[in-house]
Amino acid sequence: MNESFVKVETRGRVGLLTLDRPQVLNALSNEVIDQLYDAIQAFEGDDNIGAMVLTGSSKAFAAGADISAMAGWSYMDVYKADYLGGKWEDLRRTRKPIIAAVAGYALGGGCELAMQCDFIIAAENARFGQPEIKLGVIPGYGGTQRLPRAVGKAKAMDLVLTGRMMDVHEAERAGLVARIVPVERLLDEALEAAATIASMSLPAVMMAKECVNRSFEATLDESLLFERRNFHALFATEDQKEGMQAFVEKRQPDFKHR
Ligand code: CAA
Repeated sequence: MNESFVKVETRGRVGLLTLDRPQVLNALSNEVIDQLYDAIQAFEGDDNIGAMVLTGSSKAFAAGADISAMAGWSYMDVYKADYLGGKWEDLRRTRKPIIAAVAGYALGGGCELAMQCDFIIAAENARFGQPEIKLGVIPGYGGTQRLPRAVGKAKAMDLVLTGRMMDVHEAERAGLVARIVPVERLLDEALEAAATIASMSLPAVMMAKECVNRSFEATLDESLLFERRNFHALFATEDQKEGMQAFVEKRQPDFKHR
């Protein structure tokens, strides 16, 4: 039987994914990503799940792609396999929200995986960086693209070119991290945030995610139109009727996610 590197649990309407390869600080091998992708796909297809949390251990979210695996690969190996494409790349097509709950190291592919999630809640001991330059390569899983979008060009260049790590406070000031919490509160805080999201109307949540992501892909004109059309579309849902009626009647809405 294949070794399991991703623990999969549910907490109410929240899917919890825990990277579990402690001997190597959750280094991301292709097997890890395959298992993560499959678990996320299962939650995507499950009507009882409205949001996900992806976490690691208190020492490492993930210390990057698996250097031992990569060390001997040739150009033809990585090119032909389209390494970091495939399921790695497909993770970003997830439509339900995923919160990264980061403690300890989030380096290289680990930082990139966290950035691929919708937002990051980080513990006081979290450290972020793109140290690939120290290995004679560059970030290959979005670091040169998502990091400048998150923290701006100056800090992204600093991190990518020097390979230095930033602590959680620098990461929060720079806009990479949404919330900082004590290590022991990390999972609860992320699960509570995910439960809040999962209690909202799922179509509204998915459209909100698509709209925010669209702001990075298209002109303001196009993105505003995309947002407005999605806003209009939500008036075709039962949940819009329920949400607004509940407000008028001064009660909590009971969303049916349709
Ligand atoms: N790949 C494979 N193994 C890794 C690993 C990685 N990315 N990161 C850590 N490990 C292994 C170590 O080799 C070590 O294994 P052994 O016990 O068998 O020696 C074990 O995990 C524990 O690590 P350390 O002893 O090094 O722990 P530490 O606390 O002294 O240091 C660290 C922690 C600073 C994170 C250090 O492990 C480190 O620098 N790791 C590599 C970080 C890195 O360069 N990441 C980028 C990878 S390339 C990439 O991700 C490309 C991309 O864009 C997708």
